[in-house]
Order: sequence, then structure tokens, then C-alpha cells
Amino acid sequence: MLLQGKSIVVTGGNSGIGEAIVLAAAAEGANVTIDYVTHPEETTALIAEVEAAGGHAVGVQADITQAADLQKMMQTAVEAYGRLDVLINNAGIETRTSLLDTTEADFDTVMAVNMRSAFFGAQAAARQFIAQGGGGLILNISSVHEDWPMPGNIAYCVSKGGMRMLTRTAGVELGAHGIRMVNIAPGAVSTPINASTEADPAKMKALDAAIPLGRMAQSSEIADVVVFLASGKAGYMTATTVVIDGGIMQGSVGL
Ligand SMILES: NC(=O)c1ccc[n+]([C@@H]2O[C@H](COP(=O)([O-])OP(=O)(O)OC[C@H]3O[C@@H](n4cnc5c(N)ncnc54)[C@H](O)[C@@H]3O)[C@@H](O)[C@H]2O)c1
Repeated sequence: MLLQGKSIVVTGGNSGIGEAIVLAAAAEGANVTIDYVTHPEETTALIAEVEAAGGHAVGVQADITQAADLQKMMQTAVEAYGRLDVLINNAGIETRTSLLDTTEADFDTVMAVNMRSAFFGAQAAARQFIAQGGGGLILNISSVHEDWPMPGNIAYCVSKGGMRMLTRTAGVELGAHGIRMVNIAPGAVSTPINASTEADPAKMKALDAAIPLGRMAQSSEIADVVVFLASGKAGYMTATTVVIDGGIMQGSVGL
């Protein structure tokens, strides 16, 4: 198994991409800590699913915008499994607002959930990694919009762009400790965050037409790459972004 005995924390782990990561990591032998803020019943059901398949998972209710909660989250993993090997900053939100109509509250919330939490989560994880003797991995679920404008979703794009520079800079700073940091940039993935798009056949038709592979990704296709990056098979990758987008960032050739 690719992740046998690794202690892995997943933020926003009880839905969408986070849930798929929990299931894929546990299936590869990881000891998983599932962070969540809402729907504790979904976390309970997910833990039961992991355990029924012979895996190990614990849950922790932690709001990642709060430094004290981030500490609680790391502590839960260390208490449950004796150490921390991988932090996956997955939780994220968007407001679908433009520059002209984004409020201060919208902006602050998106930045706090998407970027500030990745910054201070990375800091807390790196401190734990160093206390353990070095090594370790921080993975951020960023987005193609870390680099590719999405008009009408500007705070989201700014937050993901910040994640990109966080990973490049912290990845360089942490290299001396053997700590790696990598962003994953998905394109469109079928999860609750895209519920309104998926409910609109016209929007879906336009989206599928813009994707060279002709469809959204499934969450499990993102989780498979997470498993690879967290395994011993990606040990020379750091301070960079892995794009998983079905080709969408290359533009709509032929339209
Ligand atoms: N679905 C896509 O098309 C897509 C594309 C690119 C990137 N992403 C990114 O993938 C990540 C996961 O999103 P998803 O698509 O699975 O959507 P989702 O809505 O299912 O997952 C987001 C999770 O974040 C959690 N969360 C929100 N605020 C939180 C807080 N303060 N503390 C802890 N958890 C919090 C939510 O409860 C939820 O579980 C996000 O960072 C998103 O930006 C998604």
C-alpha cells in the first residue's frame, strides 16, 4: 500500500474532493484525521465507511479560520497516531462575485477560509514536522484559478493566486528541513461547490464543450493524484503546482 501508516490530516474532509481524498488515502493504508465544520453526521458515516473497509480515521470539528482550531486539528492527529506526515489544505469556498459587487465581508471570508488557513495550517504543520525531526508534506488543493482569471469570482481567484505564491515561497523556505509543499490545481470537478452549475443544463453544455476531455472530473480523479504525491514516488516534487484540468486551461481551440 502506498501510504501505509502515514498520518494524514484533510481539512473540509467530509464532502466533495476532501471526502474522496479521505477514502483513497485510507484505502492505501493511511491513518486519516478528518476535519469538518458542519454536518458531523457525514463525518461519522465517513469514519464508519473507512473502518468497514479495514482503514483508520478520526474526526475533529475545527474551523480552519481560527488558529486555535488549527492547533486542535494537528493535536488530534498527533494524539491519535503519534505523529503527522501530511497536511492537506483542502477546505475552500467561493462567493461568485465580481470586483464591483464583492463586499468586505465576502472578501475577508474567502481569504480566511482559502488562503489564511493554508498559511497558518502550513506553519503549524511545518513546526510539527520539524519537532519530529524533519520531512513531511503540505498539499494545497488550489485551483486552475490560481493562475487563470475567472471573471465574476474574483475573491476566489485572488485567494488561490495567494496559495500559489505561498507554496512557491514556503516550499523554498522549508526545503532545508526536507519538508515538501505542492499545490494541486483542479479544473471543474463534480462536487457540492458546483451544484448550481450542474443544475443548469445550458451552463453544463458550455462547460463540457470548453473542456478538451469533454467532461468535469470526478473527485476520485483528484484523490488519485493526491495519493501519488503523498507516496514515496513523488519525493522530489516541491514548491510547484500539479494541474488536473482535462486541458481546460489551454483554451477553447476551434471555437
Ligand atoms: N469542485 C471544483 O470544481 C473545484 C475546482 C478547483 C478547486 N476546488 C477546490 O477544492 C476544494 C474542495 O472543494 P469541493 O469542490 O470539494 O467543495 P465542497 O463544498 O464539497 O468542499 C469544501 C469543504 O470546505 C469546508 N469548509 C468551508 N469552510 C470551512 C472552515 N471554516 N473550516 C473547515 N472547513 C470548511 C466545507 O464544509 C466543505 O466540506 C476547495 O478548496 C475548492 O476551492 C474545487
